[in-house]
Amino acid sequence: MLETLNQPPAAASPALVEVVKVTKIYPPDVVALKNVSLSAAKGELVFLTGPSGAGKTTLLKLLCRQEIPTKGLIEIDGNDLNNLSDNDIQKLRQRIGVAYQDFKLLPRLSVFQNIAMPMEVQFKSPGEIRSRVTELLEKLGIREKQHKPAGKLSRGEQQRVAIARAAASSPLLLLADEPTGNLDAATTGLVMALFQELNDNGSTIIIATHDESIYQGSNHRKFELKQGELF
Ligand SMILES: Nc1ncnc2c1ncn2[C@@H]1O[C@H](COP(=O)(O)OP(=O)(O)OP(=O)(O)O)[C@@H](O)[C@H]1O
Ligand SMILES: [Mg+2]
Repeated sequence: MLETLNQPPAAASPALVEVVKVTKIYPPDVVALKNVSLSAAKGELVFLTGPSGAGKTTLLKLLCRQEIPTKGLIEIDGNDLNNLSDNDIQKLRQRIGVAYQDFKLLPRLSVFQNIAMPMEVQFKSPGEIRSRVTELLEKLGIREKQHKPAGKLSRGEQQRVAIARAAASSPLLLLADEPTGNLDAATTGLVMALFQELNDNGSTIIIATHDESIYQGSNHRKFELKQGELF
């Protein structure tokens, strides 16, 4: 029964993310993921839950090729990550937005510059960049911070900058690692509304979270990890 519930909707489009029997062992012997299989359909939003140390961040790192699986297959948009050239990996990465659990902002650059970065890599015009960054700053309630160095912001503000950067180029796949960990309920609502809007516009989204308030009562599928295994 549970398995049936965890299948993508019958009419769903093909898988955008396919994880097949993936194991990740950090040397020498930390088993972070054990034989994990899951998929997300193109345009789907799914939650990845589980206690601290369950392997959520590890799974997201494998999906953006920041880490390599010890065993198993990962396909993104039909591309087997094991068989892609470095050049193809770079190209694919430009289509994946990642909001890291520890933000990974460039602290001396302004909020605006941090958010603009993925669009600059894609040679978007200055006008397009300005309007998209401004839109995101407004949606996340941090417009007045745009000229401040990112390192001078509160953690909740930095978290929103990391989310805006991940969302900036409306990625094919958005990976959000504990995106509301530092936010109050109202700000969590702003972030979830942004994710829903990106999802409505076609982005596939995976949200790793402990925050029950953001997945309870939602219609989206939820994958639960415990000690590296999917339940
Ligand atoms: N670089 C690493 N080297 C060795 N072990 C690691 C490394 N990164 C993670 N681990 C271990 O792998 C396991 C899974 O960690 P992971 O960060 O994926 O968990 P998580 O579910 O994201 O936890 P949290 O909710 O605290 O963020 C943990 O036992 C962790 O200690
Ligand atoms: Mg984590």
